[in-house]
Amino acid sequence: MRELGIVADGAVLIEEGRIAAVGTRREIERRADARRALKLDIAGRILVPGLVDSHTHLIFPVSRAAEYEQRISGATYEEIARSGGGILSTVRHLRAARAPALERAALAFLQEFAAHGTTTLEAKSGYGLDWPSERRILRLLRELGRQQPVEIVPTFLGAHVIPPEYRPHKTGAEEYIARVCKDMLPAVAREKLAQFCDVFVDRGAFTVDQARRIFAAARALGLVPRLHAEQLSHTGAARLAIEVGAASADHLEQVDTNDIRALAKSGVTCTMLPGCNFHLGLRQYAPARALINAGAIVALATDFNPGTSPTLSLPMTMALACTQMRMTPAEALTACTINAAHSLRLDARIGSIEVGKDADLAVFDLCDYREIPYYFGVNYCWMTVKRGSTVYSRQPATRADSPRPPKTRTRRAPRATEARMTEISDAGYAL
Ligand code: NIG
Ligand code: FE
Repeated sequence: MRELGIVADGAVLIEEGRIAAVGTRREIERRADARRALKLDIAGRILVPGLVDSHTHLIFPVSRAAEYEQRISGATYEEIARSGGGILSTVRHLRAARAPALERAALAFLQEFAAHGTTTLEAKSGYGLDWPSERRILRLLRELGRQQPVEIVPTFLGAHVIPPEYRPHKTGAEEYIARVCKDMLPAVAREKLAQFCDVFVDRGAFTVDQARRIFAAARALGLVPRLHAEQLSHTGAARLAIEVGAASADHLEQVDTNDIRALAKSGVTCTMLPGCNFHLGLRQYAPARALINAGAIVALATDFNPGTSPTLSLPMTMALACTQMRMTPAEALTACTINAAHSLRLDARIGSIEVGKDADLAVFDLCDYREIPYYFGVNYCWMTVKRGSTVYSRQPATRADSPRPPKTRTRRAPRATEARMTEISDAGYAL
């Protein structure tokens, strides 16, 4: 994870949205096909793979800022949830939300993701908890994936918590699980609405045994498991992740040394979500250092959601990973690029700057990759490229040596860089 393969004074040749060559600027400029290419000079800034956010709850209608204040005054996340707030409050709002409002909110968030260097994100349902509402979220995710450039990988999280209407009866949980397994999952598979199935395994949500049954149903339909595991209490969910061959076990704050050893031997990606601990004011972060030292596959994600982690910034998440979990800046960058892509089963196509891969790139207005987490809380993303197209660019450029559009009209043809920059703003496809 510490081997970044940095190329000083590097260049990337892009053709038809794919990376055609990578190397030093001299090497690339010598190529015949590069001579015909439009050149964009990023003037000494750093270029990294487009960031991959492998855990988000993108679709929600309103923030929970009031709960944030309650927590600061002493209420815990679980107390708020038990009194009908928390996830259930977002479920109530989502069920009542109008489609255009939901879509507008999501589009605005997606623009911000792109502005922070994210080119691919996983997004979960789970705030509907009845089939019409879950389907609405998943269909909206599909629609958003077609409408705007950030790639969206959908996950079905019907088993987020037991919905309110099933709670009064003793058998309610079992009835809801039957609904998830017998009706919702087959419908998700039929409509191809998700590739992954997530379950929130914790006290106040689902047990290991219940999750095992849900994953068996999901697997039979071709959906790959991923889990919210060992976040608030130690339940055995990490072991379940290994048992069911999950793509990822996320959170893991409560894992013990045996879990760490077992996870390190498994193919399960361990996804750290330090934004939650930060936002909830919890001191016990997941043992990322121990997991990495033991040889586990470690990824980083924002867990963007209104309850526990309302950040969509992977650079900020990297900062938390470095200072709170002692991941090195290189490990943090690996964790939210190729390792996150691996957890989404997309590492053959995205997550690194390699020939043949999609040209998903992020430029930071910095000269050292370690400055990405170092300047925490500030967005230095300068340009984001998805499949070769600029999807975000910061205008005007902020550094003295930045490429600038010509001040006055001259007869000289603008440099390729300038032409490109102008085209971006005129065409209006810079988000
Ligand atoms: O990843 N833990 C469960 N789900 C989310 C929180 C959702 C919410 O509070 O709205 C999480 O932390
Ligand atoms: Fe989550």
